[in-house]
Amino acid sequence: MDPYRDMAVRLAPYGQEHLLDWWSELDPAQKHALLKELQALDWDRIAPLLGGDAAGSEEARERAARAQPPLDLVRLPEHGGDAEEWARAREYGETLLKDGKVGAILVAGGQGTRLGFDHPKGMFKIGPVSGKPLFQLFCEQLAGRERRAGQRLPYYIMTSSATHEETRRYFQEQHYFGLDVDDVSFFQQGALPAVDRAGRILLDEKTKLTASPDGHGGLLHALRRSGLLTVMADRGIEYLYYHQVDNPAAIVCDPAFIGLHALHGSEMSTKVVAKSSAAERMGAVVSVDGRTEIIEYSDLPAERAAAKGPNGELLLWAGNTAMHVFNHAFLERLVVEGCRLPLHRAFKSVPHIDETGERVTPAEPNAYKFEQFIFDALPLALGALVVEADRQREFLPVKNRDGADSPDTVRAGLLKLYREWLTHAGAEVSPQARVEISPRFALDAAELAEKVPSGTRFNRDRVLE
Ligand code: UTP
Repeated sequence: MDPYRDMAVRLAPYGQEHLLDWWSELDPAQKHALLKELQALDWDRIAPLLGGDAAGSEEARERAARAQPPLDLVRLPEHGGDAEEWARAREYGETLLKDGKVGAILVAGGQGTRLGFDHPKGMFKIGPVSGKPLFQLFCEQLAGRERRAGQRLPYYIMTSSATHEETRRYFQEQHYFGLDVDDVSFFQQGALPAVDRAGRILLDEKTKLTASPDGHGGLLHALRRSGLLTVMADRGIEYLYYHQVDNPAAIVCDPAFIGLHALHGSEMSTKVVAKSSAAERMGAVVSVDGRTEIIEYSDLPAERAAAKGPNGELLLWAGNTAMHVFNHAFLERLVVEGCRLPLHRAFKSVPHIDETGERVTPAEPNAYKFEQFIFDALPLALGALVVEADRQREFLPVKNRDGADSPDTVRAGLLKLYREWLTHAGAEVSPQARVEISPRFALDAAELAEKVPSGTRFNRDRVLE
């Protein structure tokens, strides 16, 4: 059989013959490229999606009706948590860091469409005075943590076809922001095509399917393909701190979080903050039938989100910050078992070529994209600990161009935090002065207090390096 007919026969049961519409126009190299792409698609995985069968909102809504606040929860000392337990956990976490048992995973494969920045989001300049990019702030934190632990900490950075080349080049040009090049690994997640309302895969070009990163849950498959889990094991890594590229306030490799996770014998732990309102667009960390899970805000019906608990506060109060700790052994188990996280679909605007071969860039959503969420691994963990975090301190995500969770709110949040640290150290910061604290200078209020003498005055903009 000739390759065209062969492929047409394979596509027919899925209703995707249109992908060969331009065949007669293609030169041999282009034909080869298109065939290769079509052969590489995991049709078993994709077929149900074409018929609209993604992880159902329906089912999630039904679960939301039974959702209760998280069970296995450690609250902050100021909210009734045990201060001694936190102190013990911090110390234990520091020991694990010192012993070289901890690494960090950064997921940086997203397209950052809401921010509307034309480069990988990690390159976005967020330092309120320094203008340092997100990537730099994280690397400086890691360097600060290494200095304190007296131990190197590997950084595993997940990229996608949308971000890989530029991210790698940027790190190279910036000399890995002072980290040892051997400690920084990049690995690429997979992609999935977008599908129109009729279940037809959209073409990006006559020889190429549309492709979007397969969600942060693509981490599992990406780890498998890259072989990095073995590299980690060889290095003695037992715990992985996971964070997202959009939150510069994340405490990278937070010793207290890692310590709590380990002391509780958890396989996957997650940090939560109190939602600011029922309507906040933030996933809720809940327990359903005794298991911890996260329900995306879009799957939480408004009246359920607004339900009040016995104390008059939101019942489903715990908002997902997307900061997690994984046991290496847990990730390995999921990967070895070939775990496939559910695919969720989102209706988005996807540029493509139409049936006349013209390129269209729709202003309105026109197609479904499919994504896996790493937090869908939570119910699979044998122990899933939920740890409360202080929102002002640890949660300042850059999501949107304006309004909530935008560069303005994040920079203001960082400046407020640094001002509090300085005040705590006994320094005086004049109202108009903007002071930024590099993580290389101090990682937290306590470290800053050791370095800035009480009574120091700050009258103009400064970056403490
Ligand atoms: P978001 O869910 O905010 O998505 O990602 P996004 O793609 O960055 O932004 P929008 O929705 O297009 O505006 C949360 C985190 O997960 C990573 C992102 O890089 C970010 O750190 N992510 C997201 C991936 O690594 N891969 C993906 O496929 C999606």
